[in-house]
Amino acid sequence: MGALLGSRQVLCVVGARPNFMKIAPIMRAFAQPGSALSARLLHTGQHYDAAMKHSFFDQLNIPEPDVDLGVGSGTHAQQTADIMKRFEPVLDKAPPLAVLVVGDVNSTIACALVAVKKGIPVIHVEAGLRSGDRGMPEEINRILTDQLSELLFITEADARGNLTLEGIDSAKIHFVGNVMIDSLRYNLDKAVPAATTLANANCAGAGDSPAEYGLVTLHRPSNVDDPVVLSRLLEVLARISERTPLLFPIHPRTESRIAEAGLEGLLADSAITTIGPQGYLEMLGLMKDARVVLTDSGGIQEETTALGVPCITLRENTERPITVSQGTNTVVGTDSDAILRCYEDVMQTGGKVGRVPDLWDGESAQRIVGVINAWAESGR
Ligand code: UD1
Repeated sequence: MGALLGSRQVLCVVGARPNFMKIAPIMRAFAQPGSALSARLLHTGQHYDAAMKHSFFDQLNIPEPDVDLGVGSGTHAQQTADIMKRFEPVLDKAPPLAVLVVGDVNSTIACALVAVKKGIPVIHVEAGLRSGDRGMPEEINRILTDQLSELLFITEADARGNLTLEGIDSAKIHFVGNVMIDSLRYNLDKAVPAATTLANANCAGAGDSPAEYGLVTLHRPSNVDDPVVLSRLLEVLARISERTPLLFPIHPRTESRIAEAGLEGLLADSAITTIGPQGYLEMLGLMKDARVVLTDSGGIQEETTALGVPCITLRENTERPITVSQGTNTVVGTDSDAILRCYEDVMQTGGKVGRVPDLWDGESAQRIVGVINAWAESGR
C-alpha cells in the first residue's frame, strides 16, 4: 500500500469505441496545471480496427496509450479474462493511486475487478445508470463496476437513487454531469458537415438543401444477433427510407450478422445507404443535421438530446431515462407498427422539444478531476 500512497498517477482505462469520447476530456483535465495528479492511459485493445479506434484517437486528440493490452475480440468470458490476465502485471509493475474506468463495456468491469482485488481504488465515470434489463451484458458490467468503486461519478441526479438502493454509500457518489457531452461541446465546431459525408456515400437526399435524411445505428446483440429481429428492423427501416432516405454506418458485428442472415438484398433494394463505421467528427455532423435518428446506442440517445435532434430508440428500455423525461428521445422497442407510428409523429410534429439536462455543460471532466484531487489530498 505504501507505493500506492506515494503515487500521484491515476491510470485511466479505455477499451471500446464509446469509451474514447468519455476519456478525452478527462485526460485533458488531468493535464491542466491545476491538477496535482497526472493521468496515464491504458487501452485494453477491445476495439482495434482503424475505424473503431485510430480515427477516434486522432480526432479527439487522445494521447497514444502508455500501455496497450492488445486483447482483441472473443466471447465475453474470453475477452474479460484476457483483459484481466494482461492487466494484472501492469498494476504490479507500477501501482497507480487509482484506476479510473468509464462506461459499461467488458474492459470496464475487467479492469475494475483486477484493481480492487489489489487494493487499488476504482473510480467509475458514468456510474448508476440502470436499464433494469439483466439480459444486457452492459447492465451486468454496470452493476458490478459500481459495487467495486470508491468514487462514483453520475451523469443524471436519479442515478444516485439507483446506487443507494444497491447499498452504495451516498458519500461516494458525485453528480458531475456528462463527459460525453464535454466532448460533444468541445468538438461541435469541428464536426464534418453532413453534406460532405452524405455526398461521399452517394446517399439519396444528399443533393437536397438542407439534406433530408435520417441516421441509423444498430449493434446491440438483442437486435442484430437474432435474424428474425434483425430482418424485422431492416424491413421497417426500408419502409421509412421510402420517405426519408437513411444513412446507416454499419458496426462490424452488424455487418457480419446481416451477411450471415442473407439480408443484404433487403438493404440493396431500399433507400438505405450503408457505409463503414464513421469517425467521431463525421458522426457529430451526421447527428446534428439529421431529420431523425434511429438507434440502439446508449451514447447516441444522449448526444441527440444534447443536440436537440429527435431520437427513436429501437430498444425496450433505456439506462438513460433523462433523455426521455427531459430530452428528445422516445424508446419504442422493436415492434414495426410502434416504430412507424413514432416516425410519423416525428415527421408531423418535428419530434419532442427537449431540454439539455443539468450539468451537461461541457465542464464535467473538470469537476471529476477536482473531486479526485480533493479525495487524494484528504488521504482517501
Ligand atoms: C462493445 C460493447 C458495447 C458497446 C459497443 C460499441 C461490451 C460488452 N460491449 O460491443 O457496450 O456499445 O462495443 O461498439 O463490451 N470487431 C471488429 N473490429 C473491432 C472490434 C470488434 O471487427 O475493432 C467485431 C468483432 O467481430 C467482434 C465484434 O465486432 O467479435 C464485437 O466486438 P465486441 O468488442 O465484442 O463488442 P461490441 O459489439 O463492439
